[in-house]
Formats: sequence, structure tokens, C-alpha cells
Amino acid sequence: LISFARDPGDGDMPEPDSLEHYGDGLLWLKGQQIHAVGHFAELSPSLPKGAEVLDYRDKLIMPGFIDTHVHYVQLDIMASYGRQLLDWLNDYTFPEECRFANHAHAEALSNAFLDEMLRAGTTTAQVFGSSHPGSVDAFFTACQKRQLRMLVGKVLMDRNAPEALMDGASGIADSERLIEDWHGTGRLGYSVTPRFAPTSTKTQMDAAGALLRNDPTLWLQTHLAENSGELDWVAELFPGSRDYLAVYEEAGLVGPRSTFAHGIHLDNGMRKRLAERGANIAFCPSSNLFLGSGLFDREAAKQTGMAFTFASDIGAGTDLSGFGTLKAAYQVGQLGGQPLTAWQGFYGLTLGNAKALSLDSHIGQLAPSLEADFVVIDTQATSLLSRRISHCTTLGERLFALMMLADDRAIYETWAGGICQHRRDEV
Ligand code: GUN
Ligand code: FE
Repeated sequence: LISFARDPGDGDMPEPDSLEHYGDGLLWLKGQQIHAVGHFAELSPSLPKGAEVLDYRDKLIMPGFIDTHVHYVQLDIMASYGRQLLDWLNDYTFPEECRFANHAHAEALSNAFLDEMLRAGTTTAQVFGSSHPGSVDAFFTACQKRQLRMLVGKVLMDRNAPEALMDGASGIADSERLIEDWHGTGRLGYSVTPRFAPTSTKTQMDAAGALLRNDPTLWLQTHLAENSGELDWVAELFPGSRDYLAVYEEAGLVGPRSTFAHGIHLDNGMRKRLAERGANIAFCPSSNLFLGSGLFDREAAKQTGMAFTFASDIGAGTDLSGFGTLKAAYQVGQLGGQPLTAWQGFYGLTLGNAKALSLDSHIGQLAPSLEADFVVIDTQATSLLSRRISHCTTLGERLFALMMLADDRAIYETWAGGICQHRRDEV
């Protein structure tokens, strides 16, 4: 059983008391919550008579993985060949998102996406729908049925997109209706979702900012500085703003609950402004490699105090798995001379992402009174993994082997809200 209590630091060894590791752990659930965590021998005598005890000997239990930036409506365009961002949006993404006008399609894809996400060990995500409000109703409904903690929003897009996807003035009214119906209902939260600066008018972005001012418990998700063609386009569309980030600042979109996907092409001034506002950049390594967008600079983020999170960014990402995201993050890091430790990786996927989304009072650790969202990992899932792990002598080596070599097959079970949501087929 492994759970981080705070940031383990950048060293080869985690900082003292940043990590709890029980070789013989007991995770005691009561309803939807964690009741206690500790050594089996110490805790088990106080279990009530008749308590159901599940034996996961030889398995590793960790908090459920969190994905801070993903598009459920792009599940079926993963692995679309040969384009960089702006052409990829026009040629693949926008046509696909048009299909979400159909409610039955939105329902089917919501469930397909959640099945895949849980199979990969992810229990919470911050998710883009399409511009159709029904796509978000369908997704929230599917999450509510499964009692998942999830953040979702309807894409706001009132220019520079196909007619069928643009929302105009109804975009804000539809967002308000979705907030009213869903935000704070059970484990669900609403994330205001202007797609990115090129597809929203100044009027729409200002109105999105007004929603956030009215209710500081809302989240904000958008894209920032992903691709060089995008940067040129934003400079052309907003000649009065000093840089890309300023466009969002002027609309009141930059705050402690704001997630900006990518943030590859930033200078230290912008990084410091993001740090001052407490916003986070979603680092989406498999997407950045797939679209050829560039290499995120973790070292610059650290130097300027800018928070970053780990995310898949499906459908531009190539892997829904948290393991796959960490593997790509390691590869991106290596190209910049910044190898990612397994401690940083797994801390980021769990407590780090939870903190950046202000969800750490609910999820991100295995600790009493937190919600029972966790993964049961099978380190013997494949012969290759089993072989490599048998040659590891330390926990750090085992975690690093998982981050580089594991996939869905290593997720034995995924639990959320105290419910076993996914159990792997026998391998
Ligand atoms: N920028 C604007 N929209 C998108 C999107 O759907 N995916 C990615 N990766 N970047 C974007
Ligand atoms: Fe994205």
C-alpha cells in the first residue's frame, strides 16, 4: 500500500515522511470512505465481527489516478494520422465533435469513455464535452450512476469553427443551466470551458470570466501556448494583448481553480504570472509528442514556482493510462535533460493532481475520511513486467519499472466511491 502525504521533492529518494508505504497494509473502508489505514497486524484486531476482508497479497494499492485534462468526445479519433494542432482540429476533431448533437451517441461515448478510464486506473478527470450542452448532461448522468468524482464542462466556441459547433450567445446560458443542474451535485463539479482564445470572441471570454466571479467554487479549463501556429494566430486575433496569457487574464479566467493545457511555449514572465494566481498547467506529454507540439519544460516550471499537473489529453494523447502518461513525461524530460523520478510521477498522478484541482480534501491519498478511490496494481501482470520487477531491489526501482513498462493489464481492480468499478479479465 503506497500513498503520498506531500511532495516527495526532486531527489532520488523521497523526502522524509512524504510517503507512506505498508508492505502488509490494511485499507479499511466504511461505505464510500476510507475509515483507517495501517499495518494489518496492528489494525485488524479492531475490525468488527463479520467484516468482509479481501486479500490482495502480492498486489500494490495506490490512490486512484487523476487526469487533469481530457476530451471524452475525442475517444474515437485517437491515433488520427499526420497533422499538427490546427489541421488536426479542422480535419479530425471538429467533424467528430459534430456527432455529439445526437444524444444517444453522447450517452454511448460517455459510457465507453468511463469504461476505458476505469480500466486504466483513473478515477477522477477534468473533462471537455463538445459544444452541445447535451453532451455534458449525458456525461454527468453516466458519472452520477457510477458515483465518480468528476469535473466536466461544455465547450464554449463562438467563432472560427464549423457552423454546427458554434454556440453564440446561448453558450453562456447553456453553461449556466448546466451549472445549476449539476455543479456540486454529489461528487460532480462544473468546469467552465472556453476551448481556447482563437475560437471565443472577447465577449464570450468576458462572460465566462463573469461566471467564475459569481461562483468561486467553479473550475476553469482551456488550452494555452501549445503550438507555434496557434501562437501566431492568437497574436493576430488579439493585437492589443501583450501575450497569450494576457488574453485570459483580461477576461478574468486565471485563478487557483484554472487549468491551462500544455503551456509549452511560455516565457518565465508568463510562468510567474500563472504561479502568482495559483493556476496550473496540464502537462500532456503523449499529446505533445503525438501532435509534434514541443517539449514541456518542467525545470522552468519548478524555477518559477508554476504548478503543473499530469494529463492524457485524449484524443491527441495516445494513452489513457496514467502509466503511459508518466512514461511519455519521462521521455520528454530526457530530451530536455530533465528525467522524471518515479516519486514525482506517482505523487503527481495522485496527490499532486488532487491538490492542483483543489480536490485534496476528498481524494488523492489513502487516508481516513477521504473517499475510497484507489487502484489495485498487479506487478506480475505480464511476463516482462514480472521479470523486470523481480530484478528490482528497491521500491523506487519497482515504481520506475511500473511507470515505464505497465499498462491496463497491471490494473487489477479500480475502486471509486467504495465500489469496485472495474476488475480485469483474467490474463
Ligand atoms: N486546442 C484547442 N482545442 C484543442 C483540442 O481539442 N485538443 C488539443 N490538444 N488542443 C486544442
Ligand atoms: Fe486538450
